[in-house]
Amino acid sequence: MQIQLKDFTLAYEERGEGKPLLLIHGYPLSRALWEPQMEGLVDAARLIAPDLRGYGQSDPVPGPYSMDMLADDCAALLEGMKVTQPVVVAGLSMGGYVALAFYRKYAARVAGLILAATRAGADSAEGKANRDKSAALAREKGVGAIVEAMLPKLLAPKSYEAKPKVVAWATQIMESASVEGIVGALMGMKERPDVTPILGQIDKPTLILHGTDDQLIPPKEAEAMHAAIKNSTLQLLPEAGHLLNLEQPELFNQAVRGFLQSIGDG
Ligand code: MLT
Repeated sequence: MQIQLKDFTLAYEERGEGKPLLLIHGYPLSRALWEPQMEGLVDAARLIAPDLRGYGQSDPVPGPYSMDMLADDCAALLEGMKVTQPVVVAGLSMGGYVALAFYRKYAARVAGLILAATRAGADSAEGKANRDKSAALAREKGVGAIVEAMLPKLLAPKSYEAKPKVVAWATQIMESASVEGIVGALMGMKERPDVTPILGQIDKPTLILHGTDDQLIPPKEAEAMHAAIKNSTLQLLPEAGHLLNLEQPELFNQAVRGFLQSIGDG
């Protein structure tokens, strides 16, 4: 499905009914990331998975894409779909940065948060320099060079041999990214603010999910968010790296299903 937003056409997928669950993908991915959730949770919620601007079948518009801008896109999608009740907002990695931005801007529209493989802090100086290097690499060598650099870090070390289908799926999703989308997201992530100070104000139920073997964002980031968010639950998934929803789909879905049930209909 597609919806025309102010400056681009956003593609999304909707399945199921009931409580709305917005699924925000990470970088440099697309809504295809959520395939195991779109299948496994279809009876548990109204699943709404957008392709963020620049990704999947959404238009590759020029960046930078600030996390607030991506959150605004999600809010505009929900408005366009006439979703008026509060939604559970789930985000993985960059999607988690967007989920936290969405909460900061639209708290009244949030029924709960699911923060997967993400963190609250801003980039370090080294992290910012790496964003510039990655953007230059994407511009000079194209998407393939980014895929080559990202792939060895995306999954738990053991997943590369044990889960070849996941490796192939993650590769295929990344290969479908556009240079504009990659650079736009990198520049947006580089400038994202530290949202640690708002964690203590979050008063919605929050589920924090993280892979024990995440090579990109260490589990201690999830533990720090759990310590700061009052009404939060933390679940570490074994033998899972950064793409824990693909690497441990059953455990991931079970945790989300339990969380949705614990929130009830309110
Ligand atoms: C992601 O998976 O969305 C990114 O790795 C997050 C980041 O680069 O900070």
